Amino acid sequence: MAAVPEDATFTLKAHFDGMAPIYDGFGPVWYEMGGALLAKNPNPISSSSIVHDNACGNGVCSSLIVKAAGTNNRPTICATDLSPKMIAEVKKRPGLESVKSEVMNSEALAFPDNTFTHSIASMVHPTTLHPDVLTKEIFRTLKPDGVALSAQFASYGWIDFTQEAIRKIRPDAPPFPGPVPEEWKTVDWFKSQFVNAGFKPENVDVSKITIRILFKDMWPECRAHMCKAVVMMVAGSWSKADEEALYEELMKRFDPETSDGDGFDHETLLLVAKK
Ligand SMILES: C[S@@+](CC[C@H](N)C(=O)[O-])C[C@H]1O[C@@H](n2cnc3c(N)ncnc32)[C@H](O)[C@@H]1O
Repeated sequence: MAAVPEDATFTLKAHFDGMAPIYDGFGPVWYEMGGALLAKNPNPISSSSIVHDNACGNGVCSSLIVKAAGTNNRPTICATDLSPKMIAEVKKRPGLESVKSEVMNSEALAFPDNTFTHSIASMVHPTTLHPDVLTKEIFRTLKPDGVALSAQFASYGWIDFTQEAIRKIRPDAPPFPGPVPEEWKTVDWFKSQFVNAGFKPENVDVSKITIRILFKDMWPECRAHMCKAVVMMVAGSWSKADEEALYEELMKRFDPETSDGDGFDHETLLLVAKK
């Protein structure tokens, strides 16, 4: 993959630290994704399960697992994330008191080989710097017969109207590719991460769903966070005035009062792999 700047891990941590207090303000998207992913789990989670909520964010998947388990069937859950602020959110979340949460890089997990019965990485591959290393760590730490569950977007519904906003400010701007390389959004790429990590191809299944995000469900600060992130991705050497104009254009398109539609769709891949 492309070389990344030396401080990229730091930048990633800072980005997600910034998102931590407003993570639930992006609407129900993370819960719909995690819920759909957990519904694909072929090995029911029980009190004898040892689950890794990998790059757990504010604990979305842990909270879904705890809710489904009830009080008598609660598994051991280890939740890890690179962002200390995300882990702080997990620690203060009601219902997750028994979850063992800690700051940890998913590309260098501190767990021994063959630790987990279930390894869950929901919307993690596109956000890590080295998804191949992440997936090898998932394979290494999963017990034989264990299940890895992973989800990611196959399309980003906001890219088209973002492109329109960019062209309005800079008609000659090159096409906006979005946050991840085109190849990373494909079923083949996602599956190959797991096969290259050691899972047998016949034990890896990928399915697709669509998740709709409504502008009205996004907190204003989350819209602003997204628009700022897009300006940072796109603008580069643009003048300050053009950057600000792009930010204004984007904010109009993300605002339920001024946008053309009521939201956008994310095609989403759900992957199940058995070790
Ligand atoms: C989009 S969020 C997904 C969070 C959660 N899995 C969920 O279902 O909502 C991506 C998370 O990955 C974390 N992350 C990115 N790279 C990581 C890495 N190398 N190690 C650990 N966490 C990482 C970020 O800090 C962020 O919390």
